[in-house]
Amino acid sequence: MADHEVIELAAVQTHPLRLDVLRRDTPSRHVAFPEDELSSTFHLGVELDGVVVGVSTWIENDHPDLPAARGVQLRGMATAPHLQGHGIGGLLLESGVERAFASGHDLVWARARDTALGFYERHGFVQRGPGYVDAVTGIPHHDIVRTR
Ligand SMILES: CC(C)(COP(=O)(O)OP(=O)(O)OC[C@H]1O[C@@H](n2cnc3c(N)ncnc32)[C@H](O)[C@@H]1OP(=O)(O)O)[C@@H](O)C(=O)NCCC(=O)NCCS
Repeated sequence: MADHEVIELAAVQTHPLRLDVLRRDTPSRHVAFPEDELSSTFHLGVELDGVVVGVSTWIENDHPDLPAARGVQLRGMATAPHLQGHGIGGLLLESGVERAFASGHDLVWARARDTALGFYERHGFVQRGPGYVDAVTGIPHHDIVRTR
């Protein structure tokens, strides 16, 4: 699984998995991000037998506390439930970080669910700032950052 190909997706191709994984048991069913269609935004995914099973969205956006660093914000990171723990998320994460740094950005950051912190930390991210409850999902989060 870990040697699977990472492909670029259109925003709309990420929406079903965002809904299925990231809006499961949350008060919101809204899955479109305002930055989805910006030309500087890219969406990376993994397909299995023609079905999108992993998604991630990468948005040119500085971290609010770190405006001097050219930032990319990762949003909408999700793997199909039956395929989690097989390396798809890690593959997408490394691929997006590499692309962000290769294009001259200094920092990749995200608002991470506390349940996913271990996953991000194993890929070189560190927590930044205090925890908070996300207004859309009602789920505890921390900001995480990875620098070049
Ligand atoms: C968080 C998430 C995106 C990670 O994606 P994933 O495809 O499961 O990621 P990976 O398989 O690369 O890594 C997940 C775990 O599986 C383990 N793993 C990776 N490859 C593995 C393999 N071949 N066999 C067994 N375990 C493996 C990793 O060590 C990792 O463990 P960790 O969480 O303790 O770090 C996914 O679990 C998910 O969609 N979760 C629900 C939504 C969510 O929380 N999204 C993030 C919002 S911030």
